[in-house]
Amino acid sequence: MDYQVASGGALKGRLRVAGDKSISHRSVMLGSLADGVTHVTGLLEGEDVLCTLAAFRAMGVMAKGPEQGRLSIQGVGLHGLRPPAQPLDMGNSGTAMRLMAGILAGQAFDSVLIGDESLSKRPMKRVSEPLGQMGARIDTNEGGRPPLRIHGKQKLRGIDYKMPVASAQVKSSLLLAGLYAEGETVVTEPAPTRDHTERMLRGFGYDVRVEGACVRVRGGGKLTACDIDVPADISSATFFLVGAAISEGSELLLEHVGINPTRIGVINILKLMGADLAIENAREVGGEPVADLRVRSAALHGIEVPPELVPLAIDEFPALFVAAACARGRTLVTGAEELRVKESDRIAVMADGLSGLGIAAQPTPDGMIIEGRGVDAPVFAGGRIESHGDHRIAMAFTIAALRASAPILVRDTPNVATSFPGFPALARGAGIGIEEVDA
Ligand code: S3P
Repeated sequence: MDYQVASGGALKGRLRVAGDKSISHRSVMLGSLADGVTHVTGLLEGEDVLCTLAAFRAMGVMAKGPEQGRLSIQGVGLHGLRPPAQPLDMGNSGTAMRLMAGILAGQAFDSVLIGDESLSKRPMKRVSEPLGQMGARIDTNEGGRPPLRIHGKQKLRGIDYKMPVASAQVKSSLLLAGLYAEGETVVTEPAPTRDHTERMLRGFGYDVRVEGACVRVRGGGKLTACDIDVPADISSATFFLVGAAISEGSELLLEHVGINPTRIGVINILKLMGADLAIENAREVGGEPVADLRVRSAALHGIEVPPELVPLAIDEFPALFVAAACARGRTLVTGAEELRVKESDRIAVMADGLSGLGIAAQPTPDGMIIEGRGVDAPVFAGGRIESHGDHRIAMAFTIAALRASAPILVRDTPNVATSFPGFPALARGAGIGIEEVDA
């Protein structure tokens, strides 16, 4: 499946994008490991989250749904999972594989985690090594790649771990293993990363201490079921924020978006670029801050993206690179080498795609230099873009069409369903001329 996207247009109206992927994964994981029934609303029914749910079902967890974002999970308690008969398939999801590795390291049975072609190339040593220090036994393929073969019945002990990379997935994996460890697990991050695991553990009644960059948990507690209302995913909202910002005459209201401080890098970066963006009706829902985001088109200008904002906007760079191409002057991104090990090498793939559409985009080892076209409309030539099966690359080039002189064909789009099922229909309703066509 490809997207054929007409050039030009503006975005109007109000919409609610799909549920937050990070929070949805965690709700399935903690709900499964809790005592009692957890009711989730607003769950992302994306393929990544469905992989996590299927894994727990394969380990004996009973769940009803998901149906229109509603899921009820009959938790089995921290020690109630049963051995899966087969390898657990994490699909395209790095979050699922890394967090599950932490949980499975603490079980009394062996398990194997596998993934699709993209996930099978992604680095897992960043979790297998510290989990190993905790006493886990995890075999990987060469170079620390999946599959992960996790040996059960290992006695885990808490460690004090200083993470070399700012990664919420590594932090979360160790905290989840920490639930099964003797003593205290302390994780220190080099820069703030999303803190949904910490917040949700507390929501399930678990004692989690945060002091500056350190997070601490002690093993031996229990999780108590609770209700979770998953906000809309700011990472999915980003495509509409950028789309509206770059296309003249746009005004959009994005409803019920999670604005956790560890996720709003994109808002701050777009504001630094001159975006007209307002946070309205800010409120707290189940321990997570939520708001409606109003965005209008604006004349953006290039910036040097402050490196401390990079981990807080790590999934938003494909769309932000498109915004930079539509900004006046140069944008410089540094400190973003993690983009090279996402669902694709997002530095290489975005630089190739932008160059193919006529933009001066220079990849660097840890970022990109983009010469923005500014107010010259249109900004992009039309053409054919390879998404490399990366959902966020596909959606980023879809919104680029708003400022293109000719249609853009975005190739290989089925993986959009990993994070944002319903994207084409929602985009069409907002004003993007998108059609799904057979490859
Ligand atoms: C995620 C953390 C981020 C992000 C990913 C989801 C999470 O990865 O890119 O899409 O849910 O913890 P890293 O923590 O590896 O940066």
